[in-house]
Amino acid sequence: MHKSWWQEAVVYQVYPRSFQDSNGDGIGDLPGIIQHLDYIKQLGADVIWLNPIYKSPNADNGYDIADYQQIMPEFGTMVDFKRLLKEAHARDLKIMMDLVVNHTSDEHPWFQAAKQSRTDPHHDWYIWRDPVDGHAPTNWRADFGGSAWTYVPEVGQYYLHLFAVKQPDLNWQNPAVRDAVFNMMTWWCQQGIDGFRMDVINLISKPDVFEDDPHLFEQPNGNSLGLIANGPHVHDYLRAMNQKVLSKYDLMTVGEAPGVTPALALKYTGFDRHELEMVFQFKHVGLDNDPQFGKWSLHRPKLTDLKRVLSDWQTALHGKAWNSLYWDNHDQARAVSRFGDDRPAFRVRSAKMLAATLHFLEGTPYIYQGEELGMTNVAFPSIHDYRDLDTLNAWHELVEQQHALAPDDMLKRIHLRSRDNARTPMQWTAEKQAGFTRGTPWLAVNPNHTTINAAAALADPDSVFFFYQKLNRLRKQYPSLIVYGDYTLLDPDDAEVYMYQRHAADQELLVVSNFTDQTLTRNITDRQPQAAQLLISNYADDVGDTLRPYEVRAYLGKQRS
Ligand code: GLC
Ligand code: CA
Repeated sequence: MHKSWWQEAVVYQVYPRSFQDSNGDGIGDLPGIIQHLDYIKQLGADVIWLNPIYKSPNADNGYDIADYQQIMPEFGTMVDFKRLLKEAHARDLKIMMDLVVNHTSDEHPWFQAAKQSRTDPHHDWYIWRDPVDGHAPTNWRADFGGSAWTYVPEVGQYYLHLFAVKQPDLNWQNPAVRDAVFNMMTWWCQQGIDGFRMDVINLISKPDVFEDDPHLFEQPNGNSLGLIANGPHVHDYLRAMNQKVLSKYDLMTVGEAPGVTPALALKYTGFDRHELEMVFQFKHVGLDNDPQFGKWSLHRPKLTDLKRVLSDWQTALHGKAWNSLYWDNHDQARAVSRFGDDRPAFRVRSAKMLAATLHFLEGTPYIYQGEELGMTNVAFPSIHDYRDLDTLNAWHELVEQQHALAPDDMLKRIHLRSRDNARTPMQWTAEKQAGFTRGTPWLAVNPNHTTINAAAALADPDSVFFFYQKLNRLRKQYPSLIVYGDYTLLDPDDAEVYMYQRHAADQELLVVSNFTDQTLTRNITDRQPQAAQLLISNYADDVGDTLRPYEVRAYLGKQRS
């Protein structure tokens, strides 16, 4: 059996811009993160994933990098970073960095040189095509709307950007690009970092022939990522990366891979493949998408679909590769609002239910900042309150240009799905600006910080925070079952209850989660393992076959023979 520290670990994701501001400029920073290392440690996490902290003009909050080896001045300096790393390591916390190498910023010196002339040595570091009949070479659309091609008159060519105009895609076919990226990664490894989360890594290899996207117009704001993902050379590139960099250090790697299937994931992460250790798949966070408007949807995911998708991944990867487990991150709506119930009567209960349901699956769990408090979506009254360029571009296209959605309708969809739901500042206290800043925050705080905040959670032994802490302790206590055990889904057609088992040797874990606000009856007593012990629950007592709203229970015992 394949065993390693990153399989047993729990990751806590920090979005530095929104975590803690230490100097009153309204922007979170590295000294701010250092202030809360003890908090992260207390939660029981082992690894911190930092969203990009590199020099960037912030068209896409740091996912547009202008210098891979400098810290964003708003976040601090390299001295601050080294202090953060040292302070984290002193607490036995590891640091995983975001690696954004599908694209750079258009302000990166490489691109600045590339757009000067066709003969500049850096020109071929990006992807250029001549106009076709005076137009862009293909109909491809960018993920943040508009064409994926932008024309540069100086060179008379279009460059490719799968994301924003200010995020030109690197040309991975050019060996000089690969060398530069691998050298940069080596430099970070030499600083002592512990891993990489790789941004849209399955997009780095583009098709050999560029042709129009035939499915483009099925959605008013669709994009062409699906056409380009998992390109012909992606595994060659990742193997080279592994050989030249990753294999030389003891790292944790997770590649963000939109559109990846379990079969493809086995190629990226198979224990024998020497590429990556995990991928972030997207299937379970796309089940509530709208057939017409994609992520801008008013739907909720169906529990039967959710169970099917999570179970497919559990089964397909068992013994062969390793799952990442997440409900949300900086790109997704808040877990409790989307998969649980953020009404005051159910928020805490359902946040705990979601936590246990996810953390008892096989894989490495990721906790996104604030998830451990049951932080919720935000409903800003106006589009002008939003900062996320994906949200703003979608508003522009769907409301202003295409008149496909009325402003009120689109605002409702934004309240459910905008990335800014996850990016409102971390809620530390009930005070003004939630204790995030003494200045004006770059994105407004959620008004519910007066009741939902870390200070309140730490003062309440029954809080979501301490429930996560308990889950993390159980993981350390029963690794053979909780980390490495196999998985069986029970009652796949039950649309209200998620019930599954984990097994290791003669041990069995039974997890039962009520995903509704109703009291239900299910046959639980008969299904408990022998000599069952209730490991954890979000209610004070065990009432047998009755499941109260959003109740979760996990029993440990011996397998029945
Ligand atoms: C990834 C990041 C997202 C970013 C995009 C482009 O999906 O998680 O935040 O906007 O890549 O870099
Ligand atoms: Ca600051």
